[in-house]
Formats: sequence, C-alpha cells, structure tokens
Amino acid sequence: MTTPNRRAFLRSSAAALFAGYASASDVDVAPLPRESLELAPAPRAVEALPTNLKHQDTLFLTWSQDPTTTITAQWVGPTAGAPVSARVSQANTKDDWVAANVVQKAFGNTAMKVHRAEFTGLKPGTEYLLKIGTDPQVCRFRTMPAKATNTFTWVSGGDCGTGPHAIGTNQIAAKQEPYFALIGGDLGYDNGTSAKTAIQFLQNYSKYMIDPKGRLIPMVTCIGNHEVKGGYKGKRSDATYYLPLFDGLYKDTTYGTLDFGDYLSLVLLDSGHVSAIGGAQTDWLDKALAERVDRPHLIAANHVPAYPSYRPASVPSSTLLSAFGIKEKPGSGTGTENRRYWCPLFEKYAVDAVLEHHDHTFKRTHPLKGGHVDKYGVPYLGDGSWGQLRAPNAPEKLPYLAKVAKAYHMTVHKLEGDQRFHVAVEENGKIADVCGSTGKRPAKRG
Ligand SMILES: [Fe+2]
Repeated sequence: MTTPNRRAFLRSSAAALFAGYASASDVDVAPLPRESLELAPAPRAVEALPTNLKHQDTLFLTWSQDPTTTITAQWVGPTAGAPVSARVSQANTKDDWVAANVVQKAFGNTAMKVHRAEFTGLKPGTEYLLKIGTDPQVCRFRTMPAKATNTFTWVSGGDCGTGPHAIGTNQIAAKQEPYFALIGGDLGYDNGTSAKTAIQFLQNYSKYMIDPKGRLIPMVTCIGNHEVKGGYKGKRSDATYYLPLFDGLYKDTTYGTLDFGDYLSLVLLDSGHVSAIGGAQTDWLDKALAERVDRPHLIAANHVPAYPSYRPASVPSSTLLSAFGIKEKPGSGTGTENRRYWCPLFEKYAVDAVLEHHDHTFKRTHPLKGGHVDKYGVPYLGDGSWGQLRAPNAPEKLPYLAKVAKAYHMTVHKLEGDQRFHVAVEENGKIADVCGSTGKRPAKRG
C-alpha cells in the first residue's frame, strides 16, 4: 500500500468509527511512517443529519425586501420529492392564490438544499395563508402594516443555541404575538461546521415560533461569531450554513438594511465575523444612517456589543476568556472597534437604540455619548441571553450600565406612531425592564 492510499484508508476507517459503522476490531490500523502522520489531517466525526426531514420541520419566514409587501418562505431538506412551488392567498378571500417557484440552493457541503420561495406585491397589514407544494397543511402569516399608526410588536435577542432555555425563550417570545423576531447572531452555534446544529435551530424555531393565533413569526438576523468558522475575520464561505439561509438579504455583504415602509429601518451589522468593522462597512454605515435619519424609528443591531456587560470594555475578551481556556483571535470580540468606528455614527445620526448581544446577560445602558451618560445619547440594549447565560458585571463596576440581570431573556419592542417601548421579558415571563422614548431622535428631542 502506497502512503497516500494508506492515509486514505486510515482516514475512511476513522470516519467509519466515528460514525458508528465499525468497531475498533473491524479496522486494520497499521502504523504509518512518522512524516505521514504529521501530514495527515486529524480525523473528524461524520455528522449524522436527520433523515426524512419534511419541509414543515424547518419552515420559516424571512425577508430580503420591504416587509410590508413581501415574504420569503424557506426550509432545509432533501431534493427528492421536494415541493417546486408555494402559494399564498389573503386569508379573507382564500381562493385568490398566487404561486411562486421554489428555488433550491446549496446548504453548505451537505446533500440537503435550502428551498426558497419569495412573494412580492402583497397587501400591507394583511393576514395571509401559505401552502407549500401539494401539502394540504395551510400556514398563516401577516404582512407588516403600511404605517406605524397602530401599536405593533416585535421581539429581539440573540445567542440562542438549541437547548431547553432557547426553546423556553422561543415560547415566551411567540406568546407576545410579535410581527417578527430579530435574532442578533449566534443562532444555533453551528460554528460554520455543524449542519446538524443549524438544522436543529431551525427545527426549534419552526416548531415554537408560532403565535397564539397560529401565525408563523418571520425571522430577521445579523451574523455572529458562532455562524462562522473561526468566529472572526472569516470569508463568506466560512459562514457555511448561515449565508445560504440569509443571503437573500446579505447578497453581496454581510451587513445591510431592512426598511419597513417609511416608518422603521433596521441597520444590521457584522461585528467583524466576515466583514471588518472599520473601512468599507463603516463607510457604508455612515451613508445608510444618513439616508434614514428622518425615519420615525431607526434601530441598529450588532452581535458583539460596543458596551459589554460581561466582558470588561477595557480588557480584550481574549484575555478574559483565556482564563476559561477559550481562545479568541486578539482584537476580535472586544467592542473596541465598535466604539471607535460605529458609536460616533450612532450618535451623529442619533439612532433610537442599538441592539447588542454576545455577552449572554440582560443589560440596558444609560443613553451614551462618547461612552459617557448623556440624556441625548444612544441607549444600548442587550446582551444576548435568548438561550445562553452569564453573570453580568455590576453597574458600579461598569458605569455605562443602567440595569443588568443574569437572566435568559428577549426584548419586546412596541412601536406606536412615534412612541417606542422596550420591555425585557425573562424566560419565565417576568418583566426585567421597561424603557421607552418618544418622537424623533433623542438628540433632537431636547
Ligand atoms: Fe457571540
């Protein structure tokens, strides 16, 4: 046996062992020359993906265009027997079905595909029915209202995972009847390497993010470190399972905006996972905020917080995490560059709130300008504890913090006209915090 053949044999034998298809006694592991061992890559476990996955199991809604008039239905599954079209109809007419073709695209390196059907030209503020292929099951959803004249609710949070607390927070979030959920990174913790984890996250979302009236709750996301191989400074291809799902919105860049009619704009950022914080993304942010400065509600979201609640803002997270044996690339995940490049723009254009994540706590900062409390400053809400938890620092230690708690939570945002209320709700339903603001940007209210 030549060296390459022996290596391939060993690799396939090890893969079979990890996959549970062979016992150690079945495998002939002959010793290799030392130089060959050093060249051979470490064997990796072969992930067993769910079999017989139906479209209903991972079906979720999202958007790449104006949520008042569009909807995108997506799921992950095999190609064999997959539905080739989907249909929607206004719920009050039922027989006025409009069809869209289902587009299939690669889902990382798996044999499964992302299946996507986008509908445009829908009526704002309207209940719709959705049918996938020939499946008799009828799903329900609603388009966003045309104007923010009546109260509408949406939820946000991040750092979910696939455990019981992520499911618990899904359930309490769905009970709020939100029009949509913004997940600010670290969705399932697939790390760009585990399709099974990415699928499990979708299964949990699909099963539990249905409101009490049976409506699917669309999902908007921004990218986090656990979507990307290595966490920071990756390539688009390193977001192996995230971008195939969300490249409708993030077609060319891993940051973007979602404009809801003329009343709400979400500015969704990449805190250094694929796109650098400074440079092109910051130039884009300046322009994006300038174009939306007169929106009644202008909200930014990023994964790594500018004003962290767990990691001291003055200490690189890599230093802190190394105490726990966790490695991060130096300079990544500290919020330092957020504060250098983005916070001055948030303040210049006086965004109404910045949604932050990654630190796994509940936090609300004071309104801040230049890191100091200023009643006309920008509040930062976070810090990503949908399904992950850490103990935050006390406000006495980090004076920019107004309120913190060690609590699994998501935030319910209620917008009505020019009023905003942000209600942090813990997994058990307890209200952790309520804050709000009215009118134009805080800087202009004075
Ligand atoms: Fe994170």
